[in-house]
Amino acid sequence: MRADDRAAVARMRSLLAVPANRLDLVAKAPRSSPDAVFLDLEDGVPPAAKESARADAVEAARLLTADRPAIQVLVRVNGVGTPWFAGDVAEGLGPDLAGVVVPKVESAADVEVVVAALGAAGLANLPILAGVESAAGVARAEEFLRAPVRWCYFGAEDFVADLGGVRTESNLEVLYARSRVVLAARLGDVHPVDQILADFRDDDRYRRDAREARALGYRGKLCIHPAQVALAHEVFTPSADEVDRARRLLAAHEEASARGEAVIAFEGEMVDEPMARRARAVLDAAD
Ligand code: COA
Ligand code: MG
Repeated sequence: MRADDRAAVARMRSLLAVPANRLDLVAKAPRSSPDAVFLDLEDGVPPAAKESARADAVEAARLLTADRPAIQVLVRVNGVGTPWFAGDVAEGLGPDLAGVVVPKVESAADVEVVVAALGAAGLANLPILAGVESAAGVARAEEFLRAPVRWCYFGAEDFVADLGGVRTESNLEVLYARSRVVLAARLGDVHPVDQILADFRDDDRYRRDAREARALGYRGKLCIHPAQVALAHEVFTPSADEVDRARRLLAAHEEASARGEAVIAFEGEMVDEPMARRARAVLDAAD
C-alpha cells in the first residue's frame, strides 16, 4: 500500500486510555468523542483488581459500543509474558471489539503467542494493536509490525524506563526509537499512534508533541485524559488552510503536468511530485 492510500484504514487520530475497572470513567469516555478507546487491563489496573477487571472490560465494551457505535473500542490485555495474559484473552475480550491492544510486544514470536491465544478464544480475526515500548521491541519492530498487527503505539515512558534513560521535555532521548517505530510501521502497513503525555494539564506541550509526531509520520496519538482528545484531533486533522493550499498546489501541479512540465514555481516554492503526493495525503486525511 502506498502511504497515500493508508488514509483508507479506519482513522485513529486519538486513542483514549480508560482503566477497565473504572466504569465511572468508561461512562464519561464518549463525552470527548475519541476515534478509539482502549479499556486497560494492564498498567491502569492494580494487581489486586486484575482478574475482576476482565468482566468489567467485557461489560464496559458492551456499554460503549451500544452507546456510541462510531467509537472503536479495544481492550488492552497484560503482556504475553505475564501471568494474566491468557486469562485476559480468554475472559476479557467481548464480541464487539475493534481490536486487542497488546503491550510490550518484542518479537514475531510474541505475536504468534497472541494469535494462538485469540484463536483458542474464538477470536481468530481480531485485529492487533501492538505496543512497542521496550529496547527489544524497538530493535525488532520491523520483524513484527505487519499483518496481523494493524496498529501500533510507541510507548515512550516504558521505553525510557527499560533503557535506563531520563525522560525529558525535549523528546531527544526518544527521537531515534520513535522514528524507528514509525519507519517499521510504514514498511509493514501498520497505523502508528504516538506516545502519551503524562502532564495532562499542559495543552501546549501536547500540541507540540503531536505536531512533532505528525511530522515524523505518526497518524494519531495516545490520550490519557479526555482533554487531550480534541488536541489530537486538531493536530491530526489538516487545517482549512492546509486543505486550501493543497488544493491550489494540486491544481497548479496538474496544469503544469498537462503542459508537460514536472517542476513549477508555486507561491514562491518549488513544487514537484513529492509535494503533490503530500498534498494528496492532506486531502485524504481531511475527508
Ligand atoms: N476517561 C474518561 N474520563 C476521564 C478520564 C479518562 N481516561 N480521565 C479523567 N476523566 C474525567 C474525570 O473523571 C473528570 O470527570 P468529571 O468532570 O465528571 O469530574 C474529568 O474527566 C476531568 O478529569 P480531571 O479532574 O482533570 O482529572 P482526574 O484527576 O480525575 O484524573 C488521571 C487524572 C490521570 C488520574 C485520569 O485522567 C486517568 O486515570 N487517566 C487514565 C490513565 C491510564 O489509563 N493510564 C494507563 C494507560 S497509559
Ligand atoms: Mg506502560
